[in-house]
Amino acid sequence: MRAVDLIRKKRNGGALSGQEISFLIEGNIRGQVPDYQMAAFLMAVYNRGMSTEETTALTGAMVSCGRNLELGSLQGVKIDKHSTGGVGDKTQLILAPLMAAMGLKVPSIAGKGLGHTGGTIDKISSIPGFRTDLRLEDLMECLKTAGFFINEQTDEINPADKKLYAMRDATATVESIPLIAASIMSKKLSEGLDALVLDVKTGSGALTRGLEGARALAELMVGIGNSMGVMTIALITDMDAPLGRSVGNALELKECISALKGSYAPDLMEVTMTLAAWMLHLADAVSEETRPQRLGENLLKRYKDEIWDYIEHGDAFAKLLECIDAQHGNPDAVLNPSLLPAARHIKPVLSPWNGYITRMDAFAVGQASALLGAGRSRMDEGIDPAAGIIIGKKPGDSVKADTPFATLHTNDPSRLKEAEEVLLSGIEIGDKEPPRRKLIHDVILPG
Ligand code: URA
Repeated sequence: MRAVDLIRKKRNGGALSGQEISFLIEGNIRGQVPDYQMAAFLMAVYNRGMSTEETTALTGAMVSCGRNLELGSLQGVKIDKHSTGGVGDKTQLILAPLMAAMGLKVPSIAGKGLGHTGGTIDKISSIPGFRTDLRLEDLMECLKTAGFFINEQTDEINPADKKLYAMRDATATVESIPLIAASIMSKKLSEGLDALVLDVKTGSGALTRGLEGARALAELMVGIGNSMGVMTIALITDMDAPLGRSVGNALELKECISALKGSYAPDLMEVTMTLAAWMLHLADAVSEETRPQRLGENLLKRYKDEIWDYIEHGDAFAKLLECIDAQHGNPDAVLNPSLLPAARHIKPVLSPWNGYITRMDAFAVGQASALLGAGRSRMDEGIDPAAGIIIGKKPGDSVKADTPFATLHTNDPSRLKEAEEVLLSGIEIGDKEPPRRKLIHDVILPG
């Protein structure tokens, strides 16, 4: 077999066999297929797509390249949630400790942010000392002591995604449904899970902007997860406006600390509670060996009080502290968030008119935040953990001319002007209060 022939086959619209896909993935990890050929392969997939069988084979080949967690000996249902990424999308830092406090095990392999989207790894790494490159044996210890961990792909665990994700960013092939599906599902299938809740975003700040693309991605990943023995469902949730009141790494972490103490922006509360309820419902379905059900409004009624107890009584926050300790971070920074990185330059952004915010484009907000230093345009770039945006007024809120609706945070004042322009380009102000956005668009259950 030769890589060049397989690239040509995909470039010409052919379907690759499982063996051919494994040849490319394993060959690249072993150094036998050079990165320039992998880059060409990624572009061929981006242009020609992949069948469900090919995407499943790609996922399997990526999982096989690394060591995977074996969690059979641990008590409790093993469950995770993974989002396709967005702006201000911080739910994982609330859900993982919350679910761990409720007795579940949450082994979470997450990613760094890319371009305009944020990444869980960058957010948690705002905590001084926190390590996200732990080895499998250490991660097992974290699960035993804290009930969850947040780690990235390493040379040991899913090295294929570690390489391909960086390469996709540099070759403009991130927004490919089969490549997103294989990237996410290979991480999740390395985790030794019983169940998985996917949060597939739709809207301007999502990788799949349109609802149809989001649904296709959700159905593909739900199919792959269930076919590989992990009970998987997906929610399709809104990412047309940023989630919550902050965008940027330490700023979002601070918002999560407040949330774990019971203080939520309403949109963050709705999405987080819905994801939490689905995680508990799936954990029940695993324990009772039943199929997940579409419970509608009864879903939140069934689980909300219980979830809230674990937040109000401080159990979820205590779990976060245990995980920080297990992953070598400094818990003092979370007990006293003023010790987290903070920007030296803070600039209010003023509303140009009186009226209501009718649109806050998530893509523009994400771009503005990245310009301030919160994001990277290449995987090997550093970020400024303190940079980002605090959103004082959300869509639907009234604003007054010349009064602030957001503040920009950065350590590099030369970036403020452009970031402000980009942010303002994403804001629309109208005379009438706009209708409330729908946040949960759909739920995809196993077929
Ligand atoms: N999240 C991932 O882990 N991978 C992607 O490709 C996109 C979002």
